[in-house]
Amino acid sequence: MSKESWGSRVGLVLAMAGNAVGLGNFLRFPAQAINNGGGAFIIPYLVCFLLMGLPLLFVEWSMGRFGGQYGDHSTPFILNNMAPKKQKLWKYVGVFGIFTNLAVAAYYCYLESWTLSYVWHSITGSFHGMSQGQVADFFNQYVALGSSEPIVFWVFCLLLNTWILSRGLSGGVEIASKIGMPLLIMFGIFLAIRGVTLDAGEAGAVNDGTVGLNFLWTPRYESIWDFKVWLAAAGQIFFTLSVGMGSIQCYASYLRSRDDVALNAMSAGWMNEFVEVCLGGAILIPIAVGYLGVDEVKQLVAGGSGFGIGFQTLPFLFQNWGPILAALAGVAWFGLLFFAGITSSLAMGTPVMGFLRDEFSWGREKSAWAFGLTVLLLGAPTVLFYNYGVFGEYDYWAGTVSLVVFAMLEIILFAWIFGMDKGWDEITRGADIRVPVFFKFVIKYITPAILVAVFLGSLVSQGGIIDTMLNKQIYADLLNARTLNDAAQITALETKLLYINGSRLLLVFIFGAIAYLVYRAQGLRDRKAPLAHG
Ligand code: ALA
Repeated sequence: MSKESWGSRVGLVLAMAGNAVGLGNFLRFPAQAINNGGGAFIIPYLVCFLLMGLPLLFVEWSMGRFGGQYGDHSTPFILNNMAPKKQKLWKYVGVFGIFTNLAVAAYYCYLESWTLSYVWHSITGSFHGMSQGQVADFFNQYVALGSSEPIVFWVFCLLLNTWILSRGLSGGVEIASKIGMPLLIMFGIFLAIRGVTLDAGEAGAVNDGTVGLNFLWTPRYESIWDFKVWLAAAGQIFFTLSVGMGSIQCYASYLRSRDDVALNAMSAGWMNEFVEVCLGGAILIPIAVGYLGVDEVKQLVAGGSGFGIGFQTLPFLFQNWGPILAALAGVAWFGLLFFAGITSSLAMGTPVMGFLRDEFSWGREKSAWAFGLTVLLLGAPTVLFYNYGVFGEYDYWAGTVSLVVFAMLEIILFAWIFGMDKGWDEITRGADIRVPVFFKFVIKYITPAILVAVFLGSLVSQGGIIDTMLNKQIYADLLNARTLNDAAQITALETKLLYINGSRLLLVFIFGAIAYLVYRAQGLRDRKAPLAHG
């Protein structure tokens, strides 16, 4: 059994906040907000945070601490222990809590490596004098693997993650968070001040920075009738808080049984919201809208996750500030993205390591290398075939759908099978704040109902899970291309289909492989159990 523990409470909260604060806060959030009508997004987003995000944080933190008491540090056996003995399938639901971390890390570490490379290019002034098109092209060349540079940065990034993980929680993850989080906030404040104080007419800006802020912060109440906006808001809350992943449970499993979870969960959650809404909302949107206007920015992020605009457009806009400030802004922007990314990817490594250490008695270094190597293999298709949609497939199935499915099932287990009274005791035991009883009701009824609605909604809505699974859009495009006799487009779409289906098969295979390991682990436990009692 692993003997890890957190060195200090500050370290724990920073690591948990670091887990939550990620690229999603600075790239995905602004893009979701822009794609969903700015102010129309903010009400569903805040409601989802209060009724789904916070309750799930309470649940996951206390599930983790509960599991830790029995020496379990990953979700398969945490869930198994919370369910009655006869219900043997829950440990397979817990497979999601390992699968998601591996599959998200597989593409996320690649993104993280872009940020490192862009820090380097900001320092060396690569973007200096480039047009907007050239900066965008630079990115397109990068992801098309025009040189070996992306591979070098990616492998370096994986090695760095593996090395930090191999140093353990207090000697690795905690130190990385204590360095990374303050720097991230400092860089963020610097850029947010630049963004908000942008003046129309100065250095090529067409709008004040406040125009972008107003776009985001002027609520539009009619949005509460738009189901699509709710789905986007719920998806963002999941991704940004890292709930439904299994990483929070793992971090919390290294707490002692009377350590507080309520205040810690609140602190990490609110810190994430501060970084997302106050800093994440005050950089990309005000700067981009300041120079390009709302309509062009809408076009740039249409349908996308925001990763593009952060790399293709901001480095160009920074050039308006002169070479020195542009270099500083580039280092601050990509540096903060890097710290945001690495503190999240480290959290994705720990459940995988926890599982290997608990169940197969692997050492810390061996399990860290196993994680690094698996991410290398699983991530390779996202790097090599980025332009064929592989990256997007991973993000959709692992980074979006899996989170909702897992969160829905775990809250049903927690509130209805483990039981809400016992669950409430878990949440409030050792708590350093009085958790409003309102949350007991919310966790039992409201959050599961919202999750079921979000899941069903995502399943059947246009362009939702079923449509995606059936590749409806691609087949429609293919039909169109055939009608037009567009041979190049037909080949491109057929190839895309091949890669997309291939990546799905790979993801299913990984899920199956983890389920098999869980089955084996149960076998090992069964064999040990009679000895323990005998
Ligand atoms: N929570 C992490 C993010 O926001 C995954 O990027």
